[in-house]
Amino acid sequence: MDAILIGFMGSGKTTIGRMLAKTLLVPHTDLDQEIVENAGQTIPEFFSNYGEKKFRELEHQILLNQLKKNGVLSTGGGTPISMQNLEILQATKAPVILLEASTNTILERVGKSKERPLVNQMSVEQLAELQFKRMPFYQKCANLCINTDNHSPLEITEQIYKYLSVN
Ligand code: S3P
Repeated sequence: MDAILIGFMGSGKTTIGRMLAKTLLVPHTDLDQEIVENAGQTIPEFFSNYGEKKFRELEHQILLNQLKKNGVLSTGGGTPISMQNLEILQATKAPVILLEASTNTILERVGKSKERPLVNQMSVEQLAELQFKRMPFYQKCANLCINTDNHSPLEITEQIYKYLSVN
């Protein structure tokens, strides 16, 4: 992989991943999208049919497969939150880029999303707590952290591009 984007739901991993891949002229892969294609159902369907544990197993398998490829990989918000995946992300030679956003920004971006089973079940406080709990995992594998609040996807993409050019 040329770059791996991690971060909480709504931090911009998919949008920025696509833009970055275009800029680098490499393929873009979205881990959630790969899961949907592999499972033949949407993520909310998968969660309600098989539960989160099975989702995480499939996510892990697909992460392993994708890492062998080149391009930009946008992970899911929960991907780094297991020792297995964390170790893989720490060991990879690909730069791991963390996109951060405040809880308010996250809510503005994904608050009403029907595609995210975890957000739908949570209050604002629970969402903020989940974000807080996940931060150490994200930080343990990130080579670069970027705050996306009040920045356009283009600005973020340029920032990552510059980082990749000198690293
Ligand atoms: C999840 C984030 C989602 C998706 C699933 C679980 C999470 O991906 O993988 O709904 O645990 O944070 P996005 O971060 O792309 O929304």
